[in-house]
Amino acid sequence: MNRPPLYVTQPALPDLADFEPMLREIWASRRLTNGGPYHDQLEAALAGYLAVPQVSLLGNGTLALMLALKALDVEGEVITTPYSFVATTHALLWSGCTPVFADIDPASLNLDPAAVEAAITPRTRAILAVHVYGRPCDTAGLQAVADRHGLRLIYDAAHAFGVQLDTGSLLAAGDAAILSFHATKVFHTFEGGAIACRDEALKARIDLLRNFGFKGETRVLAAGINAKMNELQAAFGCLSLGGINAEIEARARVAARYDAAFGNLPGLRLLAPLPGVARHNHGYYPIFVAPGFALGRDALYEQLRAQGIIARRYFYPLISDFDMYRSAPGADHLPIARRMADSVLCLPLYGALSDDEVSRVIAAVTAAARP
Ligand SMILES: Cc1ncc(COP(=O)(O)O)c(C=O)c1O
Repeated sequence: MNRPPLYVTQPALPDLADFEPMLREIWASRRLTNGGPYHDQLEAALAGYLAVPQVSLLGNGTLALMLALKALDVEGEVITTPYSFVATTHALLWSGCTPVFADIDPASLNLDPAAVEAAITPRTRAILAVHVYGRPCDTAGLQAVADRHGLRLIYDAAHAFGVQLDTGSLLAAGDAAILSFHATKVFHTFEGGAIACRDEALKARIDLLRNFGFKGETRVLAAGINAKMNELQAAFGCLSLGGINAEIEARARVAARYDAAFGNLPGLRLLAPLPGVARHNHGYYPIFVAPGFALGRDALYEQLRAQGIIARRYFYPLISDFDMYRSAPGADHLPIARRMADSVLCLPLYGALSDDEVSRVIAAVTAAARP
């Protein structure tokens, strides 16, 4: 029997019939973009759902990174992680900043505050940290470093939609946090993104910059860009926000089955839950293939692929190993990030993954472990 491939993720889609009336409304109003009613509705709904004071909707997460850097006037050196999607570092180059890589912490897989502090020079202006897989950075540790050295602290929270700490929203940490609503994310608007922040004046600046710098009809106050989210995306977002809790709960059930199946497999390492997390979003399910496993990571990746299970090596290679970043400061000494990148494999995880499909993934990984 030819079974369909299982990809690492699959975008959640609400019922098309529920989207049609929204489309009709957009057609009737002819308000397609530039802050229409669905745009404003989604912005308010997300501020509520995410429990952050300010949200600015944007065209995608990469633009969100660029606008956060611009709105906070960040120039010069920015310390960042090599263990992320390449957009994190690309945004620094697009913004005229110099990326400086620091190593990650082996438990969180996020920037290690001590490594960040060691990488600071007189030219350092900011820290750009990533909550990789939606797992929180050491926000207190990073904030302490930022405060000691007068640095801006920006979080790439592209993976961290809806993650709550015991103390409140993870997105409230730092000067600003960016989100991606790309189709591969837990919450998506096909393409899309946002910046969450606490400061009303910062939101006003971001809102100016996302629309070419216009203030009213006749004044342009800054060299802004077109980073707006349109009404189709926003309407879709309003609709899918209604299903987000169910999506996260369904993902949690898949993750729990994987945990039970893989917890004691020799040579496989799973990530331990981090303290202080009240709610995870289950965006990714990484496993780490250690020397005690029967196969190497790449052999396991190929073996799963041959069975139609399309796992992904997020994040391999390290950003610092792409040719264009190899000579960046810090790129040559990142032992923990390298070890994780060389051993990671992300398994299929999404709400619509059926019980049988989960069993299929479990059987394939378990069989590989016991050849
Ligand atoms: C960590 C991280 N940062 C930034 C981005 C860029 O977001 P977007 O694709 O919405 O531009 C992504 C994913 O796409 C990501 O995974």
